[in-house]
Amino acid sequence: MHSVAIAPSILAADFTRLGEEIAAVSDAGADYIHIDVMDGHFVPNLTFGPPVISAIRKVTTLPFDVHLMIMPVDPFIENFKNAGADILTVHPEAGPHLHRTIQHIKSLGMKAGVALNPATPASIIEPIIDDLDLVLVMSVNPGFGGQKFIVSQLKKIEALRAMIDRTGKDILLEVDGGVNPDTSQKVISAGANMLVAGSAVFKGGAKSYAANINALRGRG
Ligand code: DX5
Ligand code: ZN
Repeated sequence: MHSVAIAPSILAADFTRLGEEIAAVSDAGADYIHIDVMDGHFVPNLTFGPPVISAIRKVTTLPFDVHLMIMPVDPFIENFKNAGADILTVHPEAGPHLHRTIQHIKSLGMKAGVALNPATPASIIEPIIDDLDLVLVMSVNPGFGGQKFIVSQLKKIEALRAMIDRTGKDILLEVDGGVNPDTSQKVISAGANMLVAGSAVFKGGAKSYAANINALRGRG
């Protein structure tokens, strides 16, 4: 694992060749595969669910970082485990009992993450930070790839880095949305150690993926 992990978001892959695209980013040095699950209700877009995740599970050994933008989450947690999710990340707005949801995810042997929308404060996870494996800062509003990085989120990343360091635990600090070689440097300096990128990785075809991934890591 690299000191700054890269998680390509398959939302920006060529869906007609999804298996090949995932194999290509795996060969190109990705650390995780980021899978954006959307329900057309929690966010204004629809993507894919457990059947697609099971199908692509066969093409890589990289861990699946599954970002749930669905509401409710609780009835589907086991389906995502069975489909092959390694990390399951949920939004606090998606259900009334975040602590219970996190415990459920962990009881099935997955790592648990919480995703914070741009307007959601870092403080919302303070009471449960010790229970988390990952915190995801959304640097765009969830729903679509290719949006512009929201600079105000850098302060939140810094605050979360301090909060995580106070725990003394190895909790991943992931940033998702508008991450490119320029913004990635700011995000890494602010304390993130895991970057999601869709458009910045899946551009130029498979021959460019290794260079695209390395450009995001920078000096990290
Ligand atoms: C947006 C998703 C992101 C998205 C990122 O709701 O959570 O993972 O795919 O796409 P880019 O990197 O293109 O901003
Ligand atoms: Zn995502």
